[in-house]
Amino acid sequence: MWGGRFSSAPAAIMEEINASIEFDKRLGPQDVRGSLAHVAMLAEAGIVEKADAARIAEGLRQIAGEIENGEFQFSRALEDIHMNVESRLADLIGPTAGRLHTARSRNDQVATDMRLWVRDAVDDLDGQLAALQHALATRALEFAGAVMPGFTHLQSAQPVTFGHHLLAYVEMFGRDRSRFIDARRRMNECPLGAAALAGTSFPIDRHQTAAALGFDRPTANSLDSVSDRDFVLETLSAAAICAVHLSRFAEEIVLWATPQFGFVRLSDAFSTGSSIMPQKRNPDAAELVRGKAGRVIGALNGLLIVMKGLPLTYSKDMQEDKEGAFDAIQTLSLCLAAMTGMVQDLTPNLPAMRKAAGSGYATATDLADWLVRVLGLPFREAHHVTGRIVGLASEKGVGLEKLSLEAMQSVEPRITQEIFTVLGVEKSVRSRVSFGGTAPANVRREARRWLRKLERN
Ligand code: ARG
Repeated sequence: MWGGRFSSAPAAIMEEINASIEFDKRLGPQDVRGSLAHVAMLAEAGIVEKADAARIAEGLRQIAGEIENGEFQFSRALEDIHMNVESRLADLIGPTAGRLHTARSRNDQVATDMRLWVRDAVDDLDGQLAALQHALATRALEFAGAVMPGFTHLQSAQPVTFGHHLLAYVEMFGRDRSRFIDARRRMNECPLGAAALAGTSFPIDRHQTAAALGFDRPTANSLDSVSDRDFVLETLSAAAICAVHLSRFAEEIVLWATPQFGFVRLSDAFSTGSSIMPQKRNPDAAELVRGKAGRVIGALNGLLIVMKGLPLTYSKDMQEDKEGAFDAIQTLSLCLAAMTGMVQDLTPNLPAMRKAAGSGYATATDLADWLVRVLGLPFREAHHVTGRIVGLASEKGVGLEKLSLEAMQSVEPRITQEIFTVLGVEKSVRSRVSFGGTAPANVRREARRWLRKLERN
């Protein structure tokens, strides 16, 4: 492509370090799309003859077909997807192919291709996140009243419902979606026509190509256009945060599926056995979701480090944006699919959850609240009194609801029989009616609200 200035071929090792076709071949469809928009604009602006533009477009459409059918022969000697496509075009239509690259450089071309690819990926992820939210909200409605322990410090804290716990993740994935949508809005400007870095002397119409490729507008500064990879960084940030949410949930599934917790059972479809221990049912899918989050976070870190020292504008370092981004998006997509499957598949063990919810004095806060509400104690004093009652119950080795009234009265004489109305776990969750609280009626309302919202998009 640049034979004019060169008299010998690159060293083999140069070709090896330089070539990106092995991974950027997946930009083939985007590359052809960008070129079709570019050549249509060149023709309309009178920069290329209409007849030449038509031959170029026809050749490009044939190439799109070859890529789609897997017939396209990629060559490492041709370095990257852009030169592979252009060279094939020359095979097909001869020297006219050389007119396509007028008023364009690979610098604005790769920036455009990558935006198109990342934008499509974000749209796909949004659909997958919506499907996961739908699965979670469906199960949340089913288990709106199923009592389980809520934890802080991984210690039993207060009873909550399983539905409420699942809806917590629906909220997280909702924020993830809004982060992706926000990144998409900012990335939706078209760098095509910035050319190498300074713009071009040809009378191109960047608004036309931007519109043809579904962008809101062309990018405003040619230097920024070819050197910006914020859109990849932002997408990877959103992906990394989303992967962290998936990983936390996966960790909970791993814990819940242990015989020690016994809160959920994953079906055979989402478990594996051990080659030596016949009793084992391992939650491998959940563990892999947890582990793969590391790759997604790594891709974000990797690209931040690639970009941090680069002067304007394009440097070849930027070719390193691709493998990490492709891998991270593919990995996240796989994790979302696996998590959606696990959510639809898992069977909670309701008696085990309920039993655990009642242990560890999880209704102590209800007792303290009763002392405040009925006896008018300041909360701090109620906290202290409750602490002593929990101490007594613990000495006797019984739960709070099994401790005698006399024992409680030995700490606070004004406590009456009425206290027993707040000490059960069902009563506890039913009382948490504050906005966003775990009362089953709240949870049912929230699950239905989400399901309605998700049916709309
Ligand atoms: N394969 C290159 C990349 O991915 C395309 C841009 C090449 N531009 C250049 N000036 N060498 O970044």
